[in-house]
Amino acid sequence: MTIQWFPGHMTRARREIQEKLKLIDVVIELLDARLPLSSRNPMIDEILQGKPRMIVLNKADLADPAVTEKWVTYFKNEGITAFPIDASNGTRVQDIPAQAKVLFHDKIQKQLNRGMKPRAIRGLIVGIPNVGKSTLINRLAGRNIAATGDRPGVTKGQQWIKIGTEMELLDTPGILWPKFEDQEVGYRLAVTGAIKEQVINIEDVAFFAIKYMTQYYWDTLQERFELTKKPEDLDVPDEIVQVMEEIGRKRGCIMSGGRVDLEKTSGVILRELRAGKMGRFSLEVPLSFML
Ligand code: G4P
Repeated sequence: MTIQWFPGHMTRARREIQEKLKLIDVVIELLDARLPLSSRNPMIDEILQGKPRMIVLNKADLADPAVTEKWVTYFKNEGITAFPIDASNGTRVQDIPAQAKVLFHDKIQKQLNRGMKPRAIRGLIVGIPNVGKSTLINRLAGRNIAATGDRPGVTKGQQWIKIGTEMELLDTPGILWPKFEDQEVGYRLAVTGAIKEQVINIEDVAFFAIKYMTQYYWDTLQERFELTKKPEDLDVPDEIVQVMEEIGRKRGCIMSGGRVDLEKTSGVILRELRAGKMGRFSLEVPLSFML
């Protein structure tokens, strides 16, 4: 489900997270490994007010592993521990309680020094819609807890879910909004399905995706659709449209009269991309690695 974010929603979402922050020790900031910055809330530092946190790059199974490694280093340089996971399959999700222990180590030590039995570390997952918050909560809990598609303002009783013996997780995640100022960010989010096509024109999104894939992942694109000709100039829109038309013909997206149905073709392109059928890809690389 996509939320249309208006200022009122943002204020409410922020207030809800800040209420939850009072209860917790550690924040698990969930980002999409394919686009960590575009899937990041622009006000996150201000919202978290210095709470200890880790960054978890979800859907790493869909992202380009070499680029994901660069993002891990990028966040490390920013002073935040980050690691990739795949919440659907459970890959590396156990690093979350392990990292929580590292972040909380000093407090645990203090409690031990005072002869107290350390209490469970309390965590909260935060992230934009569709990033995989509910999937991760269910995976960590080992059962179905969170209803997918939670919305800000839709409150339900909060409960603690035990993760092993040393951690507890709030069962409702903190829902954040993505950045909206930048059109490129909007397109990247739309390619992954985080913004639905009702908000952005589907043909524009598929055009953006094909242009990007042609530039950075041409071999996989070519192989998938057995394309014949690589565009020579990516800045000539017609050349990109020709690639889309070839894909449309290969997939039988033809209108009466024999013309390619670009809207239908765009749907095919985005479905296959999102399902990982065009291989693993990342939609952004840290700027520091591009210089
Ligand atoms: P949310 O609570 O943050 O809104 O996200 P949610 O868990 O509902 O996950 C959104 C979609 O992303 C789901 O797809 C879910 O299966 C998928 N997903 C979550 N984590 C991963 C992951 O690590 N890898 C992959 N490949 N997919 C993941 P969906 O059920 O198909 O829903 P929809 O997006 O088609 O509506």
